[in-house]
Amino acid sequence: MNILLGVTGGIAAYKALNLVRLYRKAGHEVQVVMTDSAQAFVAPLSFQALSGHPVRTELFDPEQEAGMDHIALARWADVLVIAPATANVLAKLSAGLADDLLTTLVLACDRPLVVAPAMNRVMWQQPVTQQNLQALQARGITVVPPGEGEQACGETGEGRLAEETAIVTATESVQSALSGSSKPKNDQAWLKTQAFLQGKQVLITVGPTQEPIDPVRFLGNRSSGRMGFALAQAASEAGANVTLIAGPVALPTPAGVRRVDVATAQQMFDAVQAEFAQTDVLIGAAAVADYRVAEPAEQKLKKSPDADELTLKLIKNPDIIGWAGEQKAQNGGKGPILVGFAAETENLEAHARTKLQTKQLDMICANQVGDKLGFDQPDNALTLITAEHTRHLTRSDKADQARQLLQVLLEWQADLKF
Ligand code: CTP
Repeated sequence: MNILLGVTGGIAAYKALNLVRLYRKAGHEVQVVMTDSAQAFVAPLSFQALSGHPVRTELFDPEQEAGMDHIALARWADVLVIAPATANVLAKLSAGLADDLLTTLVLACDRPLVVAPAMNRVMWQQPVTQQNLQALQARGITVVPPGEGEQACGETGEGRLAEETAIVTATESVQSALSGSSKPKNDQAWLKTQAFLQGKQVLITVGPTQEPIDPVRFLGNRSSGRMGFALAQAASEAGANVTLIAGPVALPTPAGVRRVDVATAQQMFDAVQAEFAQTDVLIGAAAVADYRVAEPAEQKLKKSPDADELTLKLIKNPDIIGWAGEQKAQNGGKGPILVGFAAETENLEAHARTKLQTKQLDMICANQVGDKLGFDQPDNALTLITAEHTRHLTRSDKADQARQLLQVLLEWQADLKF
C-alpha cells in the first residue's frame, strides 16, 4: 500500500521515524511530507533515509514538482496519515484550510485520512480541539487517540502520540475496509445484506460508560467496544450510513463511519434521542452503567483518617434501548429495528429472553462473558434470539460475527415487524 505520511511540528515528530520503519517492515511504500515546524524537530534527511524517497516540504518547489507534482502525489497515495498531528493542523483540517503542502494534499486527496494527534494535555483538553476532532470524526476521518502518561513538556496526562504499532494497525484496517479484503466476496447472503442495508441509517451504541464519582474517579466496566466497532464496520461495508455513539474506548473509527463520543449513560441517552427519529436500525452494543453516583463530588474525595468504609449512593440511569422499545410500542410497533445485547455470566439464554421481552426488542444477541469469551477478546460466539427464532453462531472473530448478525437480521426480517 502507498502511504503518504504527513509529519507536523511536535516533539513526537521523532516517533514518526519509527512509524516509517514499521510501515516499510510491513511491506508498504511511504512518502513523507513535513511542515515547516516539523523540520525544526527532525531533519528531512532522516525521513528520506528511512523511506527511500525525497521528503516533500514545499507546495511550490520547482525541482520536486518536476518529479511528481503535488496532485500526482495525492493520486499516488492509497491512504493519508498525519502523525503526529498538532492541535494547529487539526484546526486547519476542520476548517478546510489549504495554506501549505500538507493541508493542500489533504484537500486534493480523496483517499482515507488517518490522524494521530499528539500535544500537551491542556491543548488536547481544550474544548476547541475536541470540537475540531469531533468535526473530523463526523466526516469519517479515522482518529487514533493519544495515550496518557508523562509528556515531553514535563506534565502528565493525555496527549502522548499513540503507540506507533497502533497507528500501523489503524492504517491497515482503514485500507482493508476500503479494499473490501476483510469482506466475504461473492457470497449470496452478504450480497443480499448489502442490498437490504444500502442507504439505511444504522445507529450503534458502543463501549462502556463512565459515571463520575469525583473529578478524577469514575465507575466503569470492562467493555472494549470491539463488537460494536466490528458491527459499525460491517454495516458500513454493506452500504449503510452508520453513526456510532461511543463511550470511552481506544479504537480507531472505521472508514466512513460517523462517530459521536460520549462518557456517561445520560450523554449516550441524549445522543441516541437526538438521532432516533432518523434511525432505521438501532443496535445497543454498549455496556451502559445501570446506576450513577447520585451526587458526584465537586472536588477530589479525600481519604478519611478515621473511617474504614465509604458509602456511595447510586441512582438508576435511563435504560436507553428500553426507552427505544417503549417509543416503538407506543407508536404501534412502527420505528427502527431494535437489537440489544445481553452480556451474561450465567443462564445466558434465559436472561437474554427476559431482556428481549422487557425491553421490547426485535432481537437480542446473547453473549457469554466472564471466561475466555466476551470483553476485550478478538473472538465471540453470539446466540441470536428473537420471539420466534434462536441461532447459535459458531465462534469466530468479531468482524465475522458482525457480518453474520446482519445477515441473520435480514433472513428473519419477515418475522420482525419493521
Ligand atoms: N442497555 C441500555 N441502557 C441501559 C442498560 C442497558 O441501552 N441503561 C442496553 C445494552 O446496550 C444492551 C441491553 O440493554 O443492549 C442489555 O444490557 P445489559 O447490561 O445486559 O442489561 P441490563 O438491562 O443492564 O440488565 P442487568 O445489568 O441486570 O443484566
